[in-house]
Amino acid sequence: MINYIHTPEGVRDITPSEFTKKLDIESRLLALMQESGYLRMQTPSFEYFDVFANNIGMTPSRELYKFFDKEGNTLVLRPDFTPAMARAYSKLYFNESKPVRLCYSGNTFVNGSELNGRLKECTQIGAELYNDDSETADAQMIGLVIGCMKAAGFEDFTVSIGNGRFFKGLCSMLGISSDDEKRIRELVSNRNYYRAEEILESLGIEREYTDLIVHISDTYTSIESLYELKDRIKYEQCVSALDRLISIVGILEKEGNDGYISIDLGLLNKYDYYTGVLFRAYTFGFGDALIKGGRYDNLVKEFGKDTPAIGFGISLDELLIALHDQKDNQSGNEYLTFALTKGRLAQKTLELLEKTGITCEEMKDKDTRKLIFVNEEQKLKFFLAKGPDVPTYVEHGVADIGVVGKDTIDEEARKIFEVLDLGFGKCRMCVCGPESAKSLLNTRDMIKVSTKYPRIAKAYFNDIKHQSVDLIKLNGSIELAPIVGLSDVIVDIVETGSTLRENGLTVLEEIFDISARMVVNPVSMRLHAKRINEIIKLVKEEL
Ligand code: PRP
Repeated sequence: MINYIHTPEGVRDITPSEFTKKLDIESRLLALMQESGYLRMQTPSFEYFDVFANNIGMTPSRELYKFFDKEGNTLVLRPDFTPAMARAYSKLYFNESKPVRLCYSGNTFVNGSELNGRLKECTQIGAELYNDDSETADAQMIGLVIGCMKAAGFEDFTVSIGNGRFFKGLCSMLGISSDDEKRIRELVSNRNYYRAEEILESLGIEREYTDLIVHISDTYTSIESLYELKDRIKYEQCVSALDRLISIVGILEKEGNDGYISIDLGLLNKYDYYTGVLFRAYTFGFGDALIKGGRYDNLVKEFGKDTPAIGFGISLDELLIALHDQKDNQSGNEYLTFALTKGRLAQKTLELLEKTGITCEEMKDKDTRKLIFVNEEQKLKFFLAKGPDVPTYVEHGVADIGVVGKDTIDEEARKIFEVLDLGFGKCRMCVCGPESAKSLLNTRDMIKVSTKYPRIAKAYFNDIKHQSVDLIKLNGSIELAPIVGLSDVIVDIVETGSTLRENGLTVLEEIFDISARMVVNPVSMRLHAKRINEIIKLVKEEL
């Protein structure tokens, strides 16, 4: 018998009963799209690499499954549909000037990181509308998203809607360069407000506009507030972006969708080809958006036809998981859950939270072996985890809020919002070693580096110093490595420096400053916006 009857990591067999459910939902969603005038089509499972290359695709090139054809061309398994559909549309409908509505269902393949609990092969269903740049088209598309969530069986969900053009307009009005705009856009979309604030201040942006940018998601959540914003910012691009958003929301409300939509001007995309309205559908108990979409008027021209387009994609497998979890856990969404880093950080966090009135008496018992602590009255749950696991729990949405060091956040690189610098747990990420190793850092020769932080070390040596390194991953007492000759230097955190001093080592280069940060799951941030923003505000006042 062969050894491999289990499936590789990230792919799975679907049992007949699961598959029946999957097919049922798929057919309901496709039927809805077809009733709405979308014609179903297919594109191939693999395409030329260029269709999904860095400037076009949403998936980093290293995460594509690549192989060669007989002529030596690089091919990739499609990681997503939008570019493939845009390519097919450009080819098949080159002379069409009327609106074209297409929909699809098929599998996508992303070779993402190992052991993160995400599928590498997923079924995606979606709809794309070409040749129509009207606000009615935007509203129809979002209406279809709401219809799909309902058809799938969700009752409690929200579709966040933003318009990326407002943010771009604001930056252009303030004279912010396009490079800086990109940096700030990424920070704002990750709700890393304090870092965005630092950059805006360093650019000399007036306080009133810095505040506007960093509070954009929380302040402007109603139509009335959009009107106020329009009165305040009279810059043409901003006004037209707000007018458009107001009309789209107006159309959706008129159709009775008001209970399902929320406005979020901080909903931004890092890809420049997204040019206008953006939307995402979220529901309780699932850590990521189930449907993502937006207007991308700059993409189709990459395939030879300059035409406006808008569309969305649904991850069918995630939708099934979310439906299943929601049925299992009806009452789960009343609680807010904190994941804290075991040890000193948790201690400090609890002291800080206590000052804001958030308490957990159960946790004060030093001898307890309990793992989860509940404050019934405040509807809060707390658990303790090893540092590197905190971002994982938060990314998957099983914890809404986490407290963890910046070192761990950068090393784990999870999709989480970094909302506050808590100011304690201060230390520095450094390259350390014996004084004699200093000269090795000024050459581009290969050196041996031991570390608990391979991602950070690799990025520092390869991308910043352009030096080749042999990385050796260790799990603790890293200082030992250069002493016993395992490596030339180490990349590690330094707090007081006493471990280094007592072992004859020194800081050779500093990489960045570290402190404890509050992180939040992106879906929790939207679905529990009021409670979480209140906590952030209270904690901020105590800092
Ligand atoms: C950390 C770090 C250093 C030490 C630095 O180790 O890895 O070894 O603290 O602190 P200092 O500058 O105040 O001497 P930690 O104690 O967390 O455990 P580890 O060695 O198992 O990583």
